[in-house]
Amino acid sequence: MKNKIFEIKNVKKEFKNGTKALNGVNLYINEGVTTIIGPSGSGKSTLLRTLNLLEKPTDGEIIYKNNNILDKDFNLIEHRKKVGMVFQNFNLFPHLTITQNLNIAQIDVLGKSLDEATAISESYLKKVGLFDKKDNYPNQLSGGQKQRVAIARALTMKPEVILFDEPTSALDPEMIKEVLIVMKDLANQGMNMIIVTHEMEFAKKFSNEVVVIDEGEIVEVGSALQIFSNPKEQRTKKFIDSISLDFYN
Ligand SMILES: Nc1ncnc2c1ncn2[C@@H]1O[C@H](COP(=O)(O)OP(=O)(O)O)[C@@H](O)[C@H]1O
Ligand SMILES: [Mg+2]
Repeated sequence: MKNKIFEIKNVKKEFKNGTKALNGVNLYINEGVTTIIGPSGSGKSTLLRTLNLLEKPTDGEIIYKNNNILDKDFNLIEHRKKVGMVFQNFNLFPHLTITQNLNIAQIDVLGKSLDEATAISESYLKKVGLFDKKDNYPNQLSGGQKQRVAIARALTMKPEVILFDEPTSALDPEMIKEVLIVMKDLANQGMNMIIVTHEMEFAKKFSNEVVVIDEGEIVEVGSALQIFSNPKEQRTKKFIDSISLDFYN
């Protein structure tokens, strides 16, 4: 039995313009790999972003390992060290080299010296196969390389869990695989990962649990096998059918 990492209770998010993105989400997220799937606009990013308070819920509770992250004296900086994030559009600083991009939070947030940070940055750049790009700037890299840098940057913080928001959606098709391979290696090394993705083959193969969301509500949670082979809910079936390429058969 895996341990719970997040406990999400009746979480609602209404944006200032009145859009209701989350309508009372109840969900446990366990250690391992969880993928979140669902139609565009269903609230996947909003849900993911509440987990490190890039979006603050308008109602409900989010418990991370027994601490309520919405408590007013909750230490958000400590939390964000533990909960890393990888964005669709990489979010690298264009005016900094790759090594400097990896160093900055280590120096500013973890208090490491420049030498310590650089050594750690270089070790993670080696892990993602980009040591030779360490002195380049982001615009000298391909999209796939930039995303591998963003993953290496998340790893330098030694996070307990990494959130991925459609990490391959902004990539040209030939670059998707190199990013998924890095993510697969992380999954195999036991990293806790919560991944919003449209890469259904990846979700099928590497998720311990799949969460289906629609219209700001959890539709169904189950193993990859159950969700993809034997979905219980009509809305899950409809979504999986809508993205399936079975019409080739
Ligand atoms: N900052 C925002 N302000 C207003 N509405 C937003 C904002 N971000 C997202 N939304 C709306 O909230 C809903 C859920 O969005 P999102 O979580 O981005 O969905 P998904 O990631 O599943 O595509 C959508 O209707 C979207 O337009
Ligand atoms: Mg999204």
